[in-house]
Amino acid sequence: MKIVPVVNINGLLVDIEDAKISVFDRGFLYGDSIYEVTRTYNRIPVLLDEHLDRLWYSAERLSIPMIHSRELIKNEINKTLVKLNQDDAYIRVIITRGEGEIGLDPNLSTNNNLIIITKHLKGYPSWWYEDGVTLITAQIMRNPKNATDPSIKSGNYLNNVMAMTEASKQKAFDAIMLNQQGFVTEGTCSNIWIIKDGVINTPPLHAGILDGITKQQLLKLIKERGLKASELNFTPDDIKNSDECFMSSSTREIVPVKSLDGVTIGTGKPGIITKQLMSLYKNSTRAMTVPK
Ligand SMILES: Cc1ncc(COP(=O)(O)O)c(C=O)c1O
Repeated sequence: MKIVPVVNINGLLVDIEDAKISVFDRGFLYGDSIYEVTRTYNRIPVLLDEHLDRLWYSAERLSIPMIHSRELIKNEINKTLVKLNQDDAYIRVIITRGEGEIGLDPNLSTNNNLIIITKHLKGYPSWWYEDGVTLITAQIMRNPKNATDPSIKSGNYLNNVMAMTEASKQKAFDAIMLNQQGFVTEGTCSNIWIIKDGVINTPPLHAGILDGITKQQLLKLIKERGLKASELNFTPDDIKNSDECFMSSSTREIVPVKSLDGVTIGTGKPGIITKQLMSLYKNSTRAMTVPK
């Protein structure tokens, strides 16, 4: 059955053929927009407040004036989900700086466009989780923190699209990007983790990454369980020499990685700690989304 998204534009639920934004919108012209993606279980969005906090952080970093209140955005998300009528849903909230005369001056527009896209989330292929996925190291570097800071979740994803294009050309699942110092930052749409001798490690914020909501939640769970975690720089060689590797994101959750640049990681199968974290994270999101 075809999945039909439900789209909300500035508070109006619109038919797919009418889900359109002006060509003068700065999101379209310059990637001058911010966004968040999460999912639901049992119709309840996972970690929505954390995602909205990050949306406001991104707006502040880009000096995008937010004309919609947090309550309004939450209500519009709910309204869109009610129309979608699915237990498991993908949610994308986009705020653009708005429309105006063409020109880089941000003051040319003052009215944000708020777009919410929801669709049924059928789940991802089981082999991702059972076998693990393949990665390559992209030639393209991650934007440095003092350029388009990767901690801002903006609509400007060309850096990631270029890295994903490399992965796709090499028939890999995804690519990791390095920073100017040669350290690993993240995947094109997920954070990356390695495990070596029982220590679970993910790159620090200052490497130039998105501060993943899944990453933050996982770090909390890892600490609560008394497992060892760190946020230290590492290189592609450290990934190749690690015992286990996985990626994290809100919609895909934890995806084990079996190789980097054709080099098998650990046993080439999802590792024991990775599997433990997969179920730990799964249980935590399910517990957050128990209907009242
Ligand atoms: C570049 C990048 N890094 C990391 C993530 C993971 O972030 P989160 O856990 O908040 O979904 C994403 C998610 O879209 C992303 O685009």
